[in-house]
Amino acid sequence: MASYDVIVIGAGPGGYVCAIRCAQLGLKTACVEGREALGGTCLNVGCIPSKALLHATHMLHEANDNFARMGLIGAVPSVDWDAMLAYKDNTIDQNTKGIEFLFKKNNIDWLKGWGTIQSQNQVKVADKVYETKNIIIASGSEPSTLPGLEIDEKIVVSSTGALSLERIPEELVVIGAGVIGLELGSVYSRLGSKVTIIEYLDNIMPGIDNDVQKEFQKILKSQGLRFLMGTSVQKVEIIEQRAKITYQNRKSNEEHLMNADAVLVATGRKPFTDGLGLDALGIDKSPEGQIKVGSDWQTKIMGIYAIGDCVKGPMLAHKAEDEGMAVAEQVVGQHGHVNYGGIPNVIYTHPEVASVGLTESELKSQGHSYKIGKFNFMGNGRAKANFAASGFVKLLADKKTDRILGCHIIGPAAGDLIHEVCVAIEFGASAEDLALTCHAHPTYSEAVREAALACGDGAIHS
Ligand code: NAI
Repeated sequence: MASYDVIVIGAGPGGYVCAIRCAQLGLKTACVEGREALGGTCLNVGCIPSKALLHATHMLHEANDNFARMGLIGAVPSVDWDAMLAYKDNTIDQNTKGIEFLFKKNNIDWLKGWGTIQSQNQVKVADKVYETKNIIIASGSEPSTLPGLEIDEKIVVSSTGALSLERIPEELVVIGAGVIGLELGSVYSRLGSKVTIIEYLDNIMPGIDNDVQKEFQKILKSQGLRFLMGTSVQKVEIIEQRAKITYQNRKSNEEHLMNADAVLVATGRKPFTDGLGLDALGIDKSPEGQIKVGSDWQTKIMGIYAIGDCVKGPMLAHKAEDEGMAVAEQVVGQHGHVNYGGIPNVIYTHPEVASVGLTESELKSQGHSYKIGKFNFMGNGRAKANFAASGFVKLLADKKTDRILGCHIIGPAAGDLIHEVCVAIEFGASAEDLALTCHAHPTYSEAVREAALACGDGAIHS
């Protein structure tokens, strides 16, 4: 019987990163994965394919809206949907093959199949039992749906089906104005679909900064997305290959009907722990289905750990990766640590939206005294040259100490810009530290520095 120091269950960003770090720390490591390819939801049916489609359709948008303005005259490209899907699939393939290569390089065994934990030291995969000193569960999450709503992945789809629709729908209804709804809604809107987003709450993207929410929704509306806010979906029926959606305004209780070629259900995800054998082991879960762990990610059974989307915290690939590295260090007796206050959040629409740290409403509810440094991309030369001057950087710092508490960006390359603030937060920096740091001209990053200057004596270009 093969025996290991550690068996990681799941090869998504949490599990595969964890397996590599375990191997780097000298542990004999195996990783269990039941999909045909490594990389989990993120690489196969999540972050990576959606970014390929966002990129391709953003290029189309640039060609349609901006080329002529820059003196690039000529035919606007037409869409070959099958070729675009092939580009997306090729992107997935390159990335998943990359992980296979990294597993080989680090001598990690890929145990192919779905794993069941049989005891503290045994994992069964495809009828074989493997001995191990430690088990790390990184089994991820799956889409959650609405009661009574059946996802067929053809007409009523989750994010998985939305990445491979047979044809571009003329009319698409998206249920949920969260990150998946807005990213994939943007993709199809750019491809010419008439997109209606139905959201139960009164604001899009619950949890993000209120100023960003308002600016974001205004920009998305100007791009052609239609929003029905404060609205809940009652039922979706399939009639002659079309969806008939019954929805209700939350305040007036009025019911309405709408037809669409496809419905994307993007109302959140839930932990995926089926078949792991947790109940038999007596491992506790929260009412939301998250595996309960301590600050060292250990379950109540010694040597069995859990990380990523199947435990508490934001369901983000990079949060899972950080936990994966930290738990590997815990297993070898080091002090792996994750700073949950410094985890960035990015929405890859155009413009991008990114944040780290606390929002203004969180600071208010904590009674924290803070100052705001805000800078509009309209004052940034590079953004103006690139027709990307919508949005702003909003930096929040402690009123007395000037320590950076949060940053909220909507604008070009926000998902990259946020990282200098992540580093600043990690180092306990002040807004003045950022303001005194030289930023190259002309770059979008100057907007971050200007927001930091605005926390002090004032931004230069506003
Ligand atoms: P989400 O939690 O971001 O948004 C779900 C939205 O659906 C919320 O606005 C909610 O109010 C709304 N909603 C819930 N029930 C509803 C109903 N009955 N009718 C109308 N609206 C309803 O969930 P989403 O977008 O499905 O994403 C799932 C997870 O995947 C998130 O945790 C996210 O962090 C992760 N993810 C992250 C990405 C990124 O970092 N760029 C990209 C894609 C997913």
